[in-house]
Amino acid sequence: MIGRLLARVERAAGPVRLEPMHRRHLRDVLAIERRVYPKPWTERIFADEIEMMHRGQRWYLVARAGRVAVGYCGALLQHPEVHVTNVAVNPDWQGRGVATRMLLALAHRAVAAGYDALTLEVRHTNTGAQALYRSFGFAPAGIRPRYYENRDDAIVMWCPGIQDAGFADRLRRIGERLA
Ligand SMILES: CC(C)(COP(=O)(O)OP(=O)(O)OC[C@H]1O[C@@H](n2cnc3c(N)ncnc32)[C@H](O)[C@@H]1OP(=O)(O)O)[C@@H](O)C(=O)NCCC(=O)NCCS
Repeated sequence: MIGRLLARVERAAGPVRLEPMHRRHLRDVLAIERRVYPKPWTERIFADEIEMMHRGQRWYLVARAGRVAVGYCGALLQHPEVHVTNVAVNPDWQGRGVATRMLLALAHRAVAAGYDALTLEVRHTNTGAQALYRSFGFAPAGIRPRYYENRDDAIVMWCPGIQDAGFADRLRRIGERLA
């Protein structure tokens, strides 16, 4: 089932392939993490997240170009919500739809597994990521003051109703645009 979902998104993904995150990806993942975040996650954190994925509590996937991981995203499963924990793309690969492809796979998977909503936090200044999330139907739902480095506020965003036909239509349109 999951393989079929990933394959469906991969067909739209050109040379970028999506696959579940493994420890062997962590060298590339950590290099991206350090380039894009002021307080990058450590290898230990990713290893723990992968371990929790094996216990069915997380989903993590990477986008691979050839042998190199160029992006990754992941989520914490908290029925009835899927909480997106991380989305990042190698700066050299940004602006090519890689994050959209990964979120599309995550969203298809959340729908197939029966979840009701997606949620996440995003830095209030990160307008690029906010635009990406809005394209999936996320809307601001609150603020967590000084959430990042005890300085920047987080905007909490929600994407409810993911079992509705409207969300299926949205995902179909996003997939068509990628193709
Ligand atoms: C945010 C991020 C994941 C987007 O990855 P990406 O692969 O470049 O995103 P996509 O190419 O799929 O972009 C999809 C849409 O997102 C929006 N977007 C993404 N980056 C943007 C930017 N820098 N400025 C404005 N809009 C942006 C646009 O609406 C874009 O659609 P368009 O290309 O039709 O305009 C990437 O910039 C990144 O890794 N940033 C650093 C880490 C980070 O901030 N992660 C989010 C944490 S909440």
